[in-house]
Amino acid sequence: MERITTTQQALSFIDDQVDRIRSQVGDGKVLLALSGGVDSSVVAALLIKAIGRQLVCVHVNHGLLRKGEPEQVIRVFRDEMNANLIYVDAVDRFLDLLAGVTDPEQKRHIIGEEFIKVFAEEAKKQEGISFLAQGTIYPDILESEQGIKAHHNVGGLPEELDFELVEPVKLLFKDEVRVVGKALGLPDGMVYRQPFPGPGLGVRCPGAITRDRLEAVRESDAILREEFEKNGLSGKVWQYFTVVPDFKSTGVKNGKRTFDWPCIIRAINTTDVMEVTVEHLPDELIDHLVQRIISEVPGINRVLYDFTPKPPATVEYE
Ligand code: XMP
Repeated sequence: MERITTTQQALSFIDDQVDRIRSQVGDGKVLLALSGGVDSSVVAALLIKAIGRQLVCVHVNHGLLRKGEPEQVIRVFRDEMNANLIYVDAVDRFLDLLAGVTDPEQKRHIIGEEFIKVFAEEAKKQEGISFLAQGTIYPDILESEQGIKAHHNVGGLPEELDFELVEPVKLLFKDEVRVVGKALGLPDGMVYRQPFPGPGLGVRCPGAITRDRLEAVRESDAILREEFEKNGLSGKVWQYFTVVPDFKSTGVKNGKRTFDWPCIIRAINTTDVMEVTVEHLPDELIDHLVQRIISEVPGINRVLYDFTPKPPATVEYE
């Protein structure tokens, strides 16, 4: 199959998929877990074009999303595309379960399991759903065939939810999905966004997640993203984020002693994610980031920069 690189190719792919989806689904109802990431957003937009409100999107807010993400999903899909969107505020449910859990693998496991539970509960509330749409892309299939990772999109759902799959982008690579998303009119902030792990900010709040430290991660991440956008770095640097580790150090603010967390900035480039190099930021930008984060984010009294490539360090902290 020819690789999709132009809008014209994307539009003909969209026409073709709209026909295929309509003939597969007929007047049936389709369920989709819509995270707001590139793949699920493109699948949602394609299905909305093909079958409108026969698609039921479920957006689960697990409390570990970045600032503004749930709002963006609601604005783009419910308000602008008139999607049949169910927004599930599961923040307390996730954060209560995660309280006191320090082991990284256990945190990931809880987040994954609870996500499936919440989604399955919403699915059971719906009448007459016979299809499940998924944002599976070609690398997911390749990696699961090669045994590199369990297929993150398949399996997991309880067996009593016996759905037929709708996977319209399963033969596309990520860059092709982005071209299709752009052609479908999705905003750039959604189409060109940087990779973001499924467990979200949970892995950037190392150790036991507390609401105040999670807020410090979310706010500092929002400042970093805003400054990268302003400085023309957002399309250039592969991934960038902040981490707020679970220890405190002494500082001084307005003549008073403080005892607060540090905020670590990580900005990296890679082509294959196996090896990663560090992006060196201009001094003035670093100074500006330090000033903003210290003055705007409660609980932070130091800003650090992570200069470590992968290997030996991984991208995420847990
Ligand atoms: P590491 O930390 O393994 O990260 O060097 C490599 C890339 O994978 C992303 N990542 C994840 N993505 N679920 C995901 O969907 C996860 O649990 C997860 N852990 C890491 C990470 O953000 C980086 O882009």
